[in-house]
Amino acid sequence: MMKRWQFVKRLAPLMAFMVLVLAACGRADLSTLNPQGPVAEEQFGLMKLAITIMAFVVIIVFAISFYVIIRFRRRPGDKTIPKQVEGSHKLEIIWTVIPIILLIILGVPTVQSVFNLSKDYSQDPEAVKVVVTSHQYWWEFEYPEYGIKTAQELIIPTGKTISIEAKSADVLHSFWIPSLAGKIDTNPGANVNFMHFSAPKEGVYLGKCAELCGPSHGLMDFKVKAVDESSFDRWVAAIQEPVALPSDPAIAAAFESKCLSCHAVGDKGGPAYPNLTGIGSRQSVAGILVNTDDPQYENEGSVYDNLHKWISNPEEVKPGNQMTGAYDLTEQEIEGIAKYLSELKLNYEQ
Ligand code: CUA
Repeated sequence: MMKRWQFVKRLAPLMAFMVLVLAACGRADLSTLNPQGPVAEEQFGLMKLAITIMAFVVIIVFAISFYVIIRFRRRPGDKTIPKQVEGSHKLEIIWTVIPIILLIILGVPTVQSVFNLSKDYSQDPEAVKVVVTSHQYWWEFEYPEYGIKTAQELIIPTGKTISIEAKSADVLHSFWIPSLAGKIDTNPGANVNFMHFSAPKEGVYLGKCAELCGPSHGLMDFKVKAVDESSFDRWVAAIQEPVALPSDPAIAAAFESKCLSCHAVGDKGGPAYPNLTGIGSRQSVAGILVNTDDPQYENEGSVYDNLHKWISNPEEVKPGNQMTGAYDLTEQEIEGIAKYLSELKLNYEQ
């Protein structure tokens, strides 16, 4: 009895650790185990079915094994040879038919879901179309129906089906929003993949790159923000408004020559790199620096602090990204540009 108690005491820290680790598994903005939309729910249903069948097999197989080990163990003095069952038709049929039945139970709904989830909404007039292009290490979101190109934050109206056309500008990445849907590979070249999802509830959902794509693969996050339909319409209008350059002429000149050669704001600049329109009202800078004072986030800070950190040393935030070394700014210019960008907000939520 004493020994058993010590065993439990030794396991206690491990148990406490597991509780802490597993507690994050149900996060509504991040977890496949807490689905927030019909696509993720269907996928979660398949997971539950598969795990139930597996658990059932494991329990029965282990129970029989232990029973046999104990019941038919060799007893002292017993020299007899047990009854031989090699070539038993009855047993062979049993252990062939049962797995076939289990595979059918698992296979039918899986194939059904595969077809359901690959339904093409790209021609559906009710669906919102988004072309997703992955880059090392950021996400571009284009809304062809509205002529909008943005980055890192996918704004969607609640309840509507979002029809995704996914491709890559460089290497293979994978588009994944754990609590809403996933995943779909984004391929280089002409091999475009399609998927769809919807978010019935307003909220911000975390997106991830799910394919090893380089040193900053683990930092290639994005956000999906679901807003009500009228907020979405206001966002569509707001992001198309012209944007003024920084009011300080020296900062404006630096911003135009160093930043707008690649980036765009409003109708100005080059479209090759993440569009910065409305960056001040996004949830994060560079997808990974979360704009909040909440210490539960590892890389948190105000939007200004995060912009300052990012522009000062992008290599430190996201190793291997293409912004590194692409420009050369004085501390004063960095501060001015970070301030200007942090105030570049889109007002669409009420
Ligand atoms: Cu992009 Cu991993």
